Amino acid sequence: MIKAVRGTRDLLPPQTALWNFVEAAARDVFRAYNFHEIRTPIFEATELFARGVGEETDVVAKEMYTWEDRGRAQSDQGQSLTLRPENTASVVRAYIEHKLGERGLQKLYYIGPQFRRERPQKGRYRQFYQIGAEVIGPTSAGSESPARDAEVLELLATLLDRLGIKDWTLELNSVGCPSDRAAYNDALRKALAPVVSGMCEDCKRRAVANPLRVFDCKVPADQPIIETLPRISQFLDEGCRNHFEQVQAILNAVGVRFTLNDRLVRGLDYYTRTAFEFTHGALGAQNAILGGGRYDGLSESLGGPHAPGIGFAIGEDRLVMALQELAAAVERKPEVYIAPMGSGMDREAATLARELRRHNLVVELGDETFRLKKSLETASKLGARFALIVGETEAKSGYFGLKNLGTGKQVSVPRADLAKEIQAAE
Ligand code: HAM
Repeated sequence: MIKAVRGTRDLLPPQTALWNFVEAAARDVFRAYNFHEIRTPIFEATELFARGVGEETDVVAKEMYTWEDRGRAQSDQGQSLTLRPENTASVVRAYIEHKLGERGLQKLYYIGPQFRRERPQKGRYRQFYQIGAEVIGPTSAGSESPARDAEVLELLATLLDRLGIKDWTLELNSVGCPSDRAAYNDALRKALAPVVSGMCEDCKRRAVANPLRVFDCKVPADQPIIETLPRISQFLDEGCRNHFEQVQAILNAVGVRFTLNDRLVRGLDYYTRTAFEFTHGALGAQNAILGGGRYDGLSESLGGPHAPGIGFAIGEDRLVMALQELAAAVERKPEVYIAPMGSGMDREAATLARELRRHNLVVELGDETFRLKKSLETASKLGARFALIVGETEAKSGYFGLKNLGTGKQVSVPRADLAKEIQAAE
């Protein structure tokens, strides 16, 4: 038997109703904040992620699905392509490619699958889904303002609250800008030099190539060493400190609670200044429900204009996991089950179904070969509110038996009143 590939999964009904519910709520919130949807391809040139996300990150170094795409003709050049492991690099590529900066500040959101070859476990998949957003534009459009950071964070608090997720924690940090980063990297290199020989192979490489990535290390034996390393908060320059303080001041003013965590550096290289994660107690080891931050230099590193930006991506799989108790409430059930009784009645039933569906009712159709008992049992199993009985007598008289499956009460209703009668029973 052929099964779904390890780390991928099918999303089946009734679960998909919960996914749709979450996406509809997100789209509603995005609309209130004047975000617009962007859709980018699910594969891109490998170089986009290597340059955008960073060669030394786990995502790029270990987790990408990459292949050499041959040209169709001898003359066509092949190229290295990669299934997107995240969507920020693609959005910024699109921003540059379509000169979106000429239209002012861009507030873009996306919903879709991402691909990372991670070790699969609960809450961690190789094809997973993100609901994300990016605010990016020329500095003159306000893209660098701490007000953008605060608005994005407040949007997230609003969405989680609206979905009824209560015990979330916003962990907030500033990872500084390139000038702070140089000083911080120097300090990290100095601190690592005498101890790195006792660390894992990855850390030995990172300590030289990109010391910030040492914080991504999951090896238990390395953690006591990592704990002693200098903290980025000690290296922020005045501009970054001010920016960070203003973000916090707005969050306090609008009443979004947060926890400062100067160990939070995030696993992607493009971050500058504000970096954040929302965690959720009930999610276990994979407790980051979303992450994001500012990336003021990403556009330039991809060959574009200076275009500061900030964004986030919610792990939709994890968000849905945290909302399991809502699953039953959002499942859609048929409002009426039509039971054709006897030969020739499928035709009558189909006509009635067509009429009722035009009134926006959710209609399920039985089959004329079913006995009444079987039809009623099927209707109950589906959770239909009514069964509509369509036999020859009913078809001739124009009056139909409408049985309320909750109360068991049956009434005879003229054809023209059926939709009204069903809708009245909200
Ligand atoms: P990220 O932290 O790599 O950030 O991913 C964001 C979220 O995606 C995580 O917090 C997690 O909920 C979910 N996620 C990541 N990997 C997996 C996985 N293997 N299985 C299930 N869920 C997963 C980014 O991707 C950035 N692009 C976010 C961003 C946007 N920063 C600025 N703008």
